[in-house]
Amino acid sequence: MEGVIDAHTRTLLTDTPGFDWTVTEFVRVTDTRLPARVFRRHCPELGAASVTPSGIPVHLQLLGSDPKTLAANARQACELGAIGLDLNFGCPAKTVNRHDGGASLLRDPRRVEAAVAAVAGAVSHAIPVTAKIRLGFAHRRQALDCAKAAQNGGAQALVVHARTRNEGYRPPAHWEWIGRIRRHLTIPVIANGDIWTLENYWKARSLSGCKDVMLGRGALADPWLARRIRGWQQAETLLGPTPWTVRADILQRYAAAQRNILPPRVVVSLLKQWLNLMRARDTEAAKRFQALRRCVDLDDFLEGLTMPCRSAVEAPAHENA
Ligand SMILES: Cc1cc2nc3c(=O)[nH]c(=O)nc-3n(C[C@H](O)[C@H](O)[C@H](O)COP(=O)(O)O)c2cc1C
Repeated sequence: MEGVIDAHTRTLLTDTPGFDWTVTEFVRVTDTRLPARVFRRHCPELGAASVTPSGIPVHLQLLGSDPKTLAANARQACELGAIGLDLNFGCPAKTVNRHDGGASLLRDPRRVEAAVAAVAGAVSHAIPVTAKIRLGFAHRRQALDCAKAAQNGGAQALVVHARTRNEGYRPPAHWEWIGRIRRHLTIPVIANGDIWTLENYWKARSLSGCKDVMLGRGALADPWLARRIRGWQQAETLLGPTPWTVRADILQRYAAAQRNILPPRVVVSLLKQWLNLMRARDTEAAKRFQALRRCVDLDDFLEGLTMPCRSAVEAPAHENA
């Protein structure tokens, strides 16, 4: 996730078992073959066999529209050590869409197919090429055509974020639409959107028929979510709530990695961003967020994560969502 999940975050999240693979933030492809440093910046794991330190594969995501340039960059990524490529047809950002990228291609399924075919044709068959779509740009009428286009182009799996571009990130995610798509495809379909809890997973699974899901914000909100889902998939185990100590530890390790490369104030805002996602479903995180929301000093912030907290508490915003 652009601006949110970088290599440090991938390292921390995949420390806990549960993930099969991860995806980088998108590499924006316009009209040139990008230099190696751009790929290495987005995916430092290229220098480590494209796996996180705990051995989970990292696939590199490309976002672009011109098939030839996408193909050239796909080849470049693979020469640098990419072991899987994902194509982004879901980004709703206005600037990206204005420049003909992300979800804007969903307006014409033929363009989705051409982009996927160009990339799949440019790299070895050993490199899985996957696509990530939404249900459409302004409406859902072409959802199935876009999904079929990705499959026809040679995608080995399809991730479907169950909203249109115009729906942004507004709940609800229309998981039943993923089911309609899945029934017509032969490649694996992976459900995405608004999976924050095990209960959400169950519902998404029963409505979509997809066993596998892709986690976005939910993985940050609950760092044990992938493990929780995997535990249930494997043995119907119900994992208890993620302890505050685990959450605080992950935030501290994140700060320790980021403070070497970013100004302390920026690290504080990134920590607040993460804690803000955690607080919706965790009372202790809600308390800490409330107590630390005005804090700007990194060391004070980190201390505030571990010190006993006595501030007034607001109930988590979406306790039972
Ligand atoms: C800040 C932000 C950045 C994102 N960046 C990307 C990205 O680079 N590539 C991508 O495929 N999806 C990106 N997404 C979309 C998520 O991967 C996901 O599809 C969406 O948030 C819905 O899933 P969720 O409810 O589990 O978060 C981003 C989402 C957010 C909120």
